[in-house]
Amino acid sequence: MNSKLWGGRFQGTTNDLFDRFGASIYFDQELANEDIEGSLAHVKMLQHTKILPAADCKKIIQGLESLQKDIQNGKVKFDYHYEDIHMNIEELLTKKIGPVAGKLHTARSRNDQVAVDFHLYLKHRLPKTIDLITGLQKVFVKLAEKNVHTIMPGYTHLQHAQPISYGHYLMAYYQMLQRDKERFQFNMKHTDISPLGAAALAGTTFKTDPKFTARELGFKQVYANSLDAVSDRDFALEFLSNASILMMHLSRLCEEISMWESYEFNYIELSDQYTTGSSIMPQKKNPDMAELVRGKTGRMYGHLMGLLSTMKSLPLAYNKDLQEDKEGVFDTVHNIIPILKILSGMLSTVKVHKQRMKETTEKDYSNATELADYLASKGMPFRQAHETVGQLVAKGIKEHRFLQDMGLDELKQASNLIDDDAYHVLKSEVAVERRHSLGGTGFDQVAMQIKNAKKQLKE
Ligand code: ARG
Repeated sequence: MNSKLWGGRFQGTTNDLFDRFGASIYFDQELANEDIEGSLAHVKMLQHTKILPAADCKKIIQGLESLQKDIQNGKVKFDYHYEDIHMNIEELLTKKIGPVAGKLHTARSRNDQVAVDFHLYLKHRLPKTIDLITGLQKVFVKLAEKNVHTIMPGYTHLQHAQPISYGHYLMAYYQMLQRDKERFQFNMKHTDISPLGAAALAGTTFKTDPKFTARELGFKQVYANSLDAVSDRDFALEFLSNASILMMHLSRLCEEISMWESYEFNYIELSDQYTTGSSIMPQKKNPDMAELVRGKTGRMYGHLMGLLSTMKSLPLAYNKDLQEDKEGVFDTVHNIIPILKILSGMLSTVKVHKQRMKETTEKDYSNATELADYLASKGMPFRQAHETVGQLVAKGIKEHRFLQDMGLDELKQASNLIDDDAYHVLKSEVAVERRHSLGGTGFDQVAMQIKNAKKQLKE
């Protein structure tokens, strides 16, 4: 005899190591609430369609509700002998209400049960993720508003390229987060479908009402194909992929935060709330949190690659491989939620060294394009203007002087087209201010980006 819920056709018992190894209760207990929610909807449907007598359904409903409270109050102990959350809950229900509990699994399989639990799990967590992204976007907008006129070097190849507004830089991250948010919103479309009713793979001979259970659980749709319903994990892959792209953006931000906090850059100072000291070097203030977010990104990519690889070549319909779909998703949820909160706090409390940022654009050659544009606007072909200014830069480097430090005579030697007004365009704030092109760094453009963002956030 085999005491398992599926033990009927077995004479022998399972190997204990196999039981432990095959069990998912260690991690899928995270689905306990969703599992009970799914079972409640299922039993209500069985009552509604008169597949089960109302009196039985009532007992099952009461039992599930009481079990839900026990779980919430931490009164329940799960056991790997019952493999997973679904069978643990059924076992506990049987202990509570007796053999009538065995009727709950009518017209259902663990295959559609686990799928519905997993859909519900993400359906509950996507809105939170989306809200937290909006929260972080608001922090970026607020900080950008205070820094429209803060000048900093814009980089390409990590070399000073052209001066930009720090507000402009911040609004670039706002846009990345907007796309992240839209991706998670789209993720909802494929998550908001109920697989319940697909049973093991082929549907059922009972006259069930999958639309009823979908409505009970708040799902927009029901899967159109039962094979697809039990074996689809696209919604989880989309979540992991969206989370990976989000983390990629956040890791770029955190890399910059770490660099900018350094002695060499000294552009910002993080609050004590989000930094740590050293156990040996008393002077240290480390941007640990930014580094950890950067580090976590690798792990998030790992979860995406893990599930993609699990799904690769998987024959239809359910296979035990699919049990591997959960831990990466849970871990991703456990990480991105605090990360979004921490980054919001970290950026709300950051001190910006505006003077230092600006100074670095005054002792460099990032105004070289301005002089080339100046010559081009006076009629010199741009290629020639580029060459002329390039030679002035080479001279400056040799003689340790910047373009704005050279006398008018000296500049005129390079080109007669240069007049006194050239010194004006060489100023970094003028270089920023004049960039009125759409989406550019000009103060008016940054203000416009902020205005549009605020409107978008209200929608
Ligand atoms: N613990 C399993 C999982 O997470 C539940 C579904 C098991 N179904 C089965 N036929 N073995 O995928």
